[in-house]
Amino acid sequence: MKVKSTRWAMVFDRSGSWSLRSVVIGAVIGLVAVLALIGFVGRSLGDGGLRDELAAEFAGAYPVEPAGGGKRVEINLVASPSSIEITGGVETNVWSYNGSVPGPALTAELGDTLQITVRNDLPAATTIHWHGVRVPNGMDGVPDVNQPRIAPGEEFVYEYTPPDAGTFWYHSHTDGSEQLERGLYGSLVITEPVDADTDSSAAYDHDVVWMIDDWLLGEDGQIDPEFDTAEDRSSNGRWGNVITVNSGIDETLEVQPGQRIRLRLINASNGRVYAPDLGDLSAKLISVDGLTVGRVDSAEGLVLAPGNRADLDITVPDEVGTYAIIDGYDSVPHALGSIVVAGEPVEVVAFEPAINLGVPDWSSAIEAPVDHELLFETFVQNEDEWIWTINGAAFPDGEPLQLTKGEFTKIKLVNQTHPLHPMHFHGQFFKVLSRNGEPVDEPFFRDTILLEGSDVVEVGMVPLDAGEWILHCHIQEHAEAGMITIMDVS
Ligand code: C2O
Ligand code: CU
Repeated sequence: MKVKSTRWAMVFDRSGSWSLRSVVIGAVIGLVAVLALIGFVGRSLGDGGLRDELAAEFAGAYPVEPAGGGKRVEINLVASPSSIEITGGVETNVWSYNGSVPGPALTAELGDTLQITVRNDLPAATTIHWHGVRVPNGMDGVPDVNQPRIAPGEEFVYEYTPPDAGTFWYHSHTDGSEQLERGLYGSLVITEPVDADTDSSAAYDHDVVWMIDDWLLGEDGQIDPEFDTAEDRSSNGRWGNVITVNSGIDETLEVQPGQRIRLRLINASNGRVYAPDLGDLSAKLISVDGLTVGRVDSAEGLVLAPGNRADLDITVPDEVGTYAIIDGYDSVPHALGSIVVAGEPVEVVAFEPAINLGVPDWSSAIEAPVDHELLFETFVQNEDEWIWTINGAAFPDGEPLQLTKGEFTKIKLVNQTHPLHPMHFHGQFFKVLSRNGEPVDEPFFRDTILLEGSDVVEVGMVPLDAGEWILHCHIQEHAEAGMITIMDVS
């Protein structure tokens, strides 16, 4: 990736001692978890049903509130037209944050408060969504639902304290079919404060973000300017002809035999799905959609739909050489990037990746009643006006789902169509319970789940954050064609 110009600033206000702070944060999390548990148990005394047992099993799975107590991280993002070199020798005109695609790789520690001033120097209105971060409702970036659009020449300040550590990302949430496609996205990684004695996360030799995207470029190397076409809407969205990692077509990571890598994959494409095959590199899946897994399994069979993240733990083998990572989702396999193993072997640092013992099993949730059923359908309006509906309504039409804070809720997603639908829930994580009637044993939460043609997927969740949150297809052209609904959590 070639960066044209970068102007952004991060101001750290370091204060206080980490060890003392960790103790305080730990105590606060503990107290919040106990209070939450008392709340759930208290409610379950009323009817003692399966739903209450499932909610009780959830208690402590992730923090109810952000711990806070960290430093303030001030960030300036300027959205503006610029240009980058994607394929050799050609400057491709893009829209970017601070002149680069992806935008600045934002990082903060758990407990920090981010204050992000966004200036819109684009010729169009925009907003930013912090995908996967449980932010206050007014910071969620959906125009008309959470905030007004930021007009050209205007600024908006986002401020929040992420409650969860992990791999997240930020992207425009206005006219996504054009604004994501032109390059308005970046990564956001929240790390846990490292306690050198007990925490192994410091022991990764490489901690790397790969943002995967595809671009539809013309022969002149410029982005095809016809966005949100009838063809995009009626198929699986806009799939490009050039696949990049961090905007490069030949991303490589150089490592030594025996080193340990944490590779954070993010799918920032409008519509394309990836199935990264790591070949002889044996990778473990340690985190999905930002949250730590409850059980570490092999990353084999990994599928990354638009919006999804996956963190892989790779121990570099002794054999030197180039290990290509190949996407096998499309009928024609493509190389995404490669890991080049060279140099002297180092001694393998053996440690078990962190797991979250609080991820509920929820195998009994298969018996729980369905609270909400969402049917996905498509229609051709006049000639080629394609619309996508959820329960018969295209956004902004349709009734919000009413969800209750702290209550176990089961939602059934029914794809009555042929195309793919990666469904993303704002403000909430969920766990997949079943697919096409078969129980699913996924030891982790997600914020985005892919439905293939005719799939029926049931998910379970315990909403924690009040407000109106959207739930939508992350294929940008489907969302713009109406495939959005609102979850009203109170
Ligand atoms: Cu990643 Cu509603 O979006
Ligand atoms: Cu869709």
